[in-house]
Amino acid sequence: MYRKVKGTQDFFGIEAKKLRHLEGIIRAVIEKFGYEEIITPIFENTEVFVRSSGEESDIVSKEMYTFDDKGGRSLTLRPEGTAPVVRAFLENKLYARRALNKYYYFGPMFRYERPQAGRYREFNQFGIEAFGASSPYLDADVIISAAEIFKALGIENIKLKINTIGDFASRAAYSALLKEHFGKGISSLCDDCARRLDRNPLRILDCKIDRDNPLLKNAPKIEAVLSAEAKAYFQKVLKILDASGISYEVDPNLVRGLDYYTDTVFEFILESDDELGGLAVCAGGKYSDLVRSFNGPDIPGIGYAFGIERIIAIMDKQNLFPDLASRADIVLISLDEEAKEKALLLARALRGAGFYAELDYQNFNLKPQFRLSEQVDAKFLVIIGEEELKNKQLAVKNALTKEQELIPETKILEYFKENLK
Ligand code: HAM
Repeated sequence: MYRKVKGTQDFFGIEAKKLRHLEGIIRAVIEKFGYEEIITPIFENTEVFVRSSGEESDIVSKEMYTFDDKGGRSLTLRPEGTAPVVRAFLENKLYARRALNKYYYFGPMFRYERPQAGRYREFNQFGIEAFGASSPYLDADVIISAAEIFKALGIENIKLKINTIGDFASRAAYSALLKEHFGKGISSLCDDCARRLDRNPLRILDCKIDRDNPLLKNAPKIEAVLSAEAKAYFQKVLKILDASGISYEVDPNLVRGLDYYTDTVFEFILESDDELGGLAVCAGGKYSDLVRSFNGPDIPGIGYAFGIERIIAIMDKQNLFPDLASRADIVLISLDEEAKEKALLLARALRGAGFYAELDYQNFNLKPQFRLSEQVDAKFLVIIGEEELKNKQLAVKNALTKEQELIPETKILEYFKENLK
């Protein structure tokens, strides 16, 4: 017996419907903000991710599904959506279409992480990327769109954490400061952190192993080195969020695990006592230099991504899904070969008229056909036998009231149009 790969999931029945249901709600919200869908390949040249996320990021250093194809190219199953969208943005010269470009995407991402509640090796993201404006108004509007999505989904116990990691000058100064601070106690930190000290000391703040080490807790804050401009920018973002009635907590230790961010970074965290509590459901930030680092023009971007499986888990817990079960309108029951053929043609006509019609393809006995009707929770049964064929009439049974009546064949579409509103 083959089993699915560790950390992956099958979606079927109601679970598959939940995923599509969410997509529908999210799409409706985000398209009102002017975002267009972009669909990029599931795999990219490995360099796309290494260059953007940074060699020191967890994603690149330990989580990528990388392989050589038969032509000897190093390819990687996408671990996230931002780098592919930036690659597509440049390759297709989308910046030439207009000054402001807004894209959204849905799709599977792949990370070799330890599977646990809300963490998979293949998972789905919904994400957005907006290019072309370096503005606290855009940053705030991006965050507002995420808040609107939570609202549309009905999820309430979510906390927005936000921080600024400054522009490049501030970041460089902060890195130097952290290097000095962590350098003093480097022996008390994990091996990963020791390595990060030289290459990217900011990432130490984000370490899951050393999270409670006093050295991390007492680390200097970015505040100390932020340029006046970066500070003013961040204050403006917060001011707009205040005016929009969006509550937040400024978290000076929030640095995000990917190297491409500058200035505004944020995460929406679930507040609950169960195993999902504390998980980031949506996360993102601004990236002023990513497009340029791909040898493109100097165009800033900002975006976020939601973890779809996490949303499903939360909505399940909070009973936020409507009844997504689909019931057959009509099941056609046929008692001999000739009737079976009639049933198939009638099903086609009913589907053409907009109904969900089902039939049993191999049985002529009533029992298995009634069983099928129950399995698809049919609203009506149409029974076709010798007698009905001869008189060009159909026996129609209401599954709820159990009432049965004879309807002339020519009137059957009309009958259901009236009775299946
Ligand atoms: P990220 O924080 O790596 O950011 O992932 C975004 C979200 O994807 C997380 O908050 C979480 O909900 C979900 N997620 C991540 N890993 C897993 C996993 N193993 N299993 C289930 N869900 C997961 C990014 O991916 C950035 N590209 C976001 C972004 C867009 N920044 C700017 N634009």
